[in-house]
Amino acid sequence: MRRLSILILAGAIAWPLLATAQTPDLHSSLPHLQKMGSATQLIVDRKPFLILGGELHNSSSSSVEYMQPVWPRLAAMHLNTVVLPVAWETIEPEEGKFDFRCLDGLLAGARENHLKLVVLWFGAWKNTYSSYVPAWVKTNTERFPRVQTSDGRDTERLSPFSAVVRDADAKAFAALMHHLREADGDRHTVLMVQVENEVGVIPEARDYSAVADAAFAAAVPTTLMKFLEAHRATLNPEFRAAWESAGARRAGTWQEVFGKTSLTDDLFMAWQYATYIDRIAAAGKAEYPLPMYANAALIRPNYEPGQYNSGGPLPHSMDVWHAGAPSLDFLSPDIYFNDFAHWAGSYSRPDNPLFIPEAQSGSAGAANALYAFGRLSAIGFSAFGIDDQGNVPLDLVGITNPSERVDGSALSSMYAELGRLAPAILAKQVTDGVAAGLIEGDAQRAARVSFGDYTATITRAGSAAGASGRIGVMFLQTGPNEFLVIGCGDAQVVFSTEKPGPPIVGVESIDEELFENGTWATRRRLNGDENSQGQALRLYGTDVARGRIYRVRLYRYR
Ligand code: DGJ
Repeated sequence: MRRLSILILAGAIAWPLLATAQTPDLHSSLPHLQKMGSATQLIVDRKPFLILGGELHNSSSSSVEYMQPVWPRLAAMHLNTVVLPVAWETIEPEEGKFDFRCLDGLLAGARENHLKLVVLWFGAWKNTYSSYVPAWVKTNTERFPRVQTSDGRDTERLSPFSAVVRDADAKAFAALMHHLREADGDRHTVLMVQVENEVGVIPEARDYSAVADAAFAAAVPTTLMKFLEAHRATLNPEFRAAWESAGARRAGTWQEVFGKTSLTDDLFMAWQYATYIDRIAAAGKAEYPLPMYANAALIRPNYEPGQYNSGGPLPHSMDVWHAGAPSLDFLSPDIYFNDFAHWAGSYSRPDNPLFIPEAQSGSAGAANALYAFGRLSAIGFSAFGIDDQGNVPLDLVGITNPSERVDGSALSSMYAELGRLAPAILAKQVTDGVAAGLIEGDAQRAARVSFGDYTATITRAGSAAGASGRIGVMFLQTGPNEFLVIGCGDAQVVFSTEKPGPPIVGVESIDEELFENGTWATRRRLNGDENSQGQALRLYGTDVARGRIYRVRLYRYR
């Protein structure tokens, strides 16, 4: 997959009443993804764009009135993009009768507040369930079959094996994209679209309906087998190990090819969800080809398939998704866990640009955002529950430590900073001129970051020393020996080199730069106690709120 969205029309389903011919000029001016040097960037109105986002609570966008006072608050928090659901039940309350008044109200609210949108299609599934489907779908279990348990009971999940479900979902989604093209094709308020939300099955690792059983006993589809052979060297190691330990067969049933384990059930469901979602995305792109993606609920430590959303686009099944859903542009992680670098890194691959639709907010979010943009060339970062900062149900979002209670101000200050620096960050993502380090968790004492000739070692300092707070630091290269440093948290940075040449690194100067009255101004030169007489750069947790960054010049000697 991972090709430009503007190229993904092959294989699209054309809904006869809705399909409209696309002109090349429309395509190139639409929001799209583009490979830029070593990064893949989101291009909006022909310029790279960094999404500084927040996702609304699930049902906030079902009411234009509810959103009215929320929009200006989000703009004041320095977001440039709001990630919001559009539910199937809202746009097609009666079969075949579409109602886009709510969506139009949301577009107007976003535009009045100079905000962009990422639309989440709450179609057949939302967190494995089918809670946002219209009543005419939900109540007609004969026509719209369900995922079944091994003891033969229906669940509240529509079946990904049903062509009737899929076609009804695709038709509604195509109508949505058609409307977006008409209402927004020349404004580009909507940048991207997520297709469904955190799909998968729980508490068993696969569907046990008769149709699912038959597919499970049949041969693994040839498309997937060919993909395995063609991409053997780059397959996810866990996925590859499952295939190889079952004999690296070139054909066979799911259990013959991947073994008799619950992971095989998970891979089987991944293929089914991927191919279903591919048809939905293709139907939407035939109407209006915005970048599209699917998101994953991640796996808690030691959870087995069925305890987590089995079949979702997880790291071990990304290859299955890439093979089964070529109409998607990328797969995304929803990261609430503390090992952010691990999960974000798993989704940042040459064939998968990183966009994080849901994440922790507060100072953890601020540090994580710095890392995502600086280290992983993310195209966007979005904190969940953004319309309700300070009052997020912590247990629901996987935060168990009350001291991590969300405070929107740290992320908001960080977004202000990142908004100012976005043109520089985007330019440096292309030339590998930006880097970042993250310290997370008690066990991690330091982070080492290499950029240009230099290596920075970041450790906690001041009030953060010995504490578990998260530290993020970004380095933007402005010359061979010069960097802008943006920090989040109390930290100390020591510079060294591993490159040939003079082995010792000295600090030529550190200048404090402040953003005041709409511009950057160099204030103090910090070459004394402030930087341990040139031995280290000291960063403060209050820097970002104060609009303070540092320009560091280094030199080397023997
Ligand atoms: C992940 C889901 O994708 C969101 O819609 C929301 O339910 C959050 N979890 C947390 O509540």
